[in-house]
Amino acid sequence: MDTWDAIRARRNVRVFANRPIAPDELDRVLQAGWMAPSAGNRQHRDFVVSTDRRQLQELAEVWQHAGHVGASAATVVTVIPVPASERDRELDQFDAGQAVMAMMLAAADLGIGSGHASVRNQAMARTILGIPESHECAAMLALGYPAERPLTPVKNLNRRPFGDVVHRGRWQG
Ligand SMILES: Cc1cc2nc3c(=O)[nH]c(=O)nc-3n(C[C@H](O)[C@H](O)[C@H](O)COP(=O)(O)O)c2cc1C
Repeated sequence: MDTWDAIRARRNVRVFANRPIAPDELDRVLQAGWMAPSAGNRQHRDFVVSTDRRQLQELAEVWQHAGHVGASAATVVTVIPVPASERDRELDQFDAGQAVMAMMLAAADLGIGSGHASVRNQAMARTILGIPESHECAAMLALGYPAERPLTPVKNLNRRPFGDVVHRGRWQG
């Protein structure tokens, strides 16, 4: 898929086919996260990847809207240090978001669906994944082949109108 098609085809996929992701394709997705930019190249993020059904089902319980993680082929948890300051939190969360988006696009390029999930119960996620107290989970990204429609450019995009969102030169209310 070319980049523009991958950008247009990515959508949150929450229902996955019962089909594993080939290890080299999963690594490609992880490499996209690894290569993503970060403020000052600080690289304050690690990725814990799970393909174990039982562990995935446990992870699905860390937030009420994380159910799709349980049936994913793999889930990547982006982990950041517990921030020392509000500024650190802003930067690390922003950089985690950039890594997640890069992984979503790399996945879409391979026809692999992806779906965010937040992490509300940090203590539970730490226990499931063996993450030390010094770190916390910024986001989960469930991955798998879409059970329903394959990834093709989304036609009826649920977005605010382009002309309302883009301000040329000066803010226009
Ligand atoms: C920071 C962030 C957290 C999100 N958390 C969840 C979540 O916990 N569960 C979920 O089902 N979707 C989650 N989403 C997905 C959004 O609901 C989704 O991206 C949005 O509705 C737009 O749909 P689309 O991605 O299909 O374009 C999250 C998205 C972002 C950016």
